[in-house]
Amino acid sequence: MIKAVRGTRDLLPPETTLWNFVESAVRDVFRAYNFQEIRTPIFESTELFARGVGEETDIVAKEMYTWEDRGGTLSNKFGEFLDWAEKNRGSTGPINTPKIVDEYFTAEGWKGQSLTLRPEATAGIVRAYIEHKLGDRGLNKLYCIGPMFRRERPQKGRYRQFYQIDAEIIGPPSAGSESPARDAEVLEMLATLLDRLGISGWNLELNSVGCPKDRAAFNEALRKALDPVRDKMCVDCQRRAVTNPLRVFDCKVPEDQPIIDKLPRISQFLDEGCRKHFEAVQEILTKVGVRFSLNDRLVRGLDYYTRTAFEFTHGALGAQNAILGGGRYDGLSEALGGPAAPGIGFAIGEDRLVMSLQESTSAEGVVKKPDVYVAPLGAGMDGEAARLARELRRHDLVVDLGDENFRLKKSFEAATRAGTKYILIVGENEVKADAFALKNLATGEQVSVPRAELPRRIQE
Ligand code: HAM
Repeated sequence: MIKAVRGTRDLLPPETTLWNFVESAVRDVFRAYNFQEIRTPIFESTELFARGVGEETDIVAKEMYTWEDRGGTLSNKFGEFLDWAEKNRGSTGPINTPKIVDEYFTAEGWKGQSLTLRPEATAGIVRAYIEHKLGDRGLNKLYCIGPMFRRERPQKGRYRQFYQIDAEIIGPPSAGSESPARDAEVLEMLATLLDRLGISGWNLELNSVGCPKDRAAFNEALRKALDPVRDKMCVDCQRRAVTNPLRVFDCKVPEDQPIIDKLPRISQFLDEGCRKHFEAVQEILTKVGVRFSLNDRLVRGLDYYTRTAFEFTHGALGAQNAILGGGRYDGLSEALGGPAAPGIGFAIGEDRLVMSLQESTSAEGVVKKPDVYVAPLGAGMDGEAARLARELRRHDLVVDLGDENFRLKKSFEAATRAGTKYILIVGENEVKADAFALKNLATGEQVSVPRAELPRRIQE
């Protein structure tokens, strides 16, 4: 038997109903804050993530699904080559071979491009922002929902294909993209969304990771502090201590934690501007009544963050307890070759969100059961039943439709399994009378109802 690949899974009904429930609440809430949907490709050039997310992060260093595209450039060029050959067919005099022909026959032309399945959405969205000059529109409030891919060790709440609900506010500084009001708006929106979904018991952990200048000073201090102790740490930390000391805070090895606890914290290195910005975010949150706790160990696993960084955790999730994470990335657009475009955003792990939702809501509870099961009875009744089902569905009723080859007992079993309230019998006598036997499966009550009255009777 061929099974789903390790770390991937099938989402089956009725659980998919919970996913739809979440996504429709998300779309409603985001709409109220004037966010609009963006859809970017599931794979991008590898360089985007290397430069955007950071070479030293776990994601880029060990978790990406990367491959060299087979003859990607070659097949593009082949088309151009054929066009050129077609145009010059039959010509006698000397032909100037265009550059494309040279490229086609050189090794360069045969080399594939390095591509990567997106491990996260922000880099792709910022690429699209730059590519389509979205800054001309002022402030952009964008969201996307879709699969992401990381080659992590699968465990509860951690998959190799998982889903994110990602939202970003990004724009030129003149559009107010740097304002702490945007950070607070995003955080308040998240609190509203979780409340709306009925998820309680979440905790918002907040930190400021400062600006690049602060981080340079912090990195220096970390390097110094790590120098005498790094030999006692795990191999990853020994490497991080030299290449990117901030990443030491991502370490999950229990033996390293007492050492990490004693390291300096970014909060001691924030400059005046970053401190004020962070205070303003906290002030607004307090004013609107969103609870948070400060955590100055929170540095997040991606390199692009500046200033505000945050995570929402939930007790029911076990070791992988972050439902969502995000923060500000004021220099990302420039790092990708774009204009200054400060931004803030987050990604919710949808798999984890659904898991925390399952604490309080069962999939069965949100599934809309069919209103009626239409049971054709006897030869030639499939068409009559289909016509009736079509009429009822046009009245927004959820209708399940049987098969004229089923005996009545089998139709009743199918209706009961589907959980419908009514079964509607469509037999020769009913068609003649244009009135149909409608039976309430819970009470057993059966009445004959004229065709025109059926929608109203079933809706009751
Ligand atoms: P992240 O913290 O890497 O941030 O991921 C966000 C969320 O995705 C996590 O909190 C978690 O719920 C979920 N997640 C991550 N990896 C997995 C996995 N292997 N299995 C299941 N769920 C997972 C980002 O991705 C940033 N792009 C967020 C952001 C947007 N920052 C600014 N804008």
